[in-house]
Amino acid sequence: MFRLDGQVAIVTGGAQGIGVGICKVFIEAGATVAMWDIVDGQPVVDEITANGGNIFYQKVDVTSKESTESAVAEIMEKHGRIDVLINNAGIIRDKSFMKMTEDQWDSVMNVNVKSLYVTAKAVLPHMIEAQYGRIVSASSINAMNGAYGQTNYSASKAAIQGFTRSLCREVGKHRITVNCVAPGFIKTAMTDSIPKEIIEGAIKQIPIRRIGLPEDMGYAYLFLASKEAEFINGITLHANGGVYPI
Ligand SMILES: NC(=O)c1ccc[n+]([C@@H]2O[C@H](COP(=O)([O-])OP(=O)(O)OC[C@H]3O[C@@H](n4cnc5c(N)ncnc54)[C@H](O)[C@@H]3O)[C@@H](O)[C@H]2O)c1
Repeated sequence: MFRLDGQVAIVTGGAQGIGVGICKVFIEAGATVAMWDIVDGQPVVDEITANGGNIFYQKVDVTSKESTESAVAEIMEKHGRIDVLINNAGIIRDKSFMKMTEDQWDSVMNVNVKSLYVTAKAVLPHMIEAQYGRIVSASSINAMNGAYGQTNYSASKAAIQGFTRSLCREVGKHRITVNCVAPGFIKTAMTDSIPKEIIEGAIKQIPIRRIGLPEDMGYAYLFLASKEAEFINGITLHANGGVYPI
């Protein structure tokens, strides 16, 4: 169950943080992974391939139609299929609303929301032809909770849920499902820079009393990316250790 043997999965923003966890879990599940990122993912790919995984890095900017379409064409030429698209790439540009610049607003909307238009447009024709596909995108606990200094980010992560609920209605007839994962507090380079006492305070709010790990998110994505999850469509899977209400 929950295997991806013989399948090809794209993981955007795969070179760092949660993306690395998703790549590793998908490799364990038997997938061939196309890791997309604007930063160099080759060191992570080399580490994974040293342990026998099928993964390759493509330098892709998910806000660019040209960059995305050429990477998709390369995958189709070499592998002939794309079964799974994980829209994990995302950025923050935090600032309280009255100090937020138009550029901080636009860049978050561009990377976090426009990217879904770009990547899904490039991948869906191949999924429709195959009459199979899984699209899973990264929302956030802060889409529901909101967060000080994150009007841009919270709005973008809520938009991803709306995109998901609408697109799933359009492509379901092709046996393509569209879902989101909303991660809670996850250990990445970003959270490593937060002072220890703030981390400890945050962990006290999490019923299972630990921070999430990139692999925890990898398993959530794997479930929604699996063929067994076909009847789960248009949802947001809250992967946050039980932080409610959300
Ligand atoms: N870390 C958390 O606690 C947390 C919580 C909720 C949601 N999320 C979401 O999960 C996702 C991953 O988060 P993370 O903490 O691992 O972030 P991260 O910054 O560690 O990784 C994000 C990756 O996306 C890449 N990226 C940025 N812009 C890109 C672009 N234009 N094209 C291609 N790649 C691009 C970055 O280079 C980076 O490797 C994000 O969408 C984030 O919003 C994270």
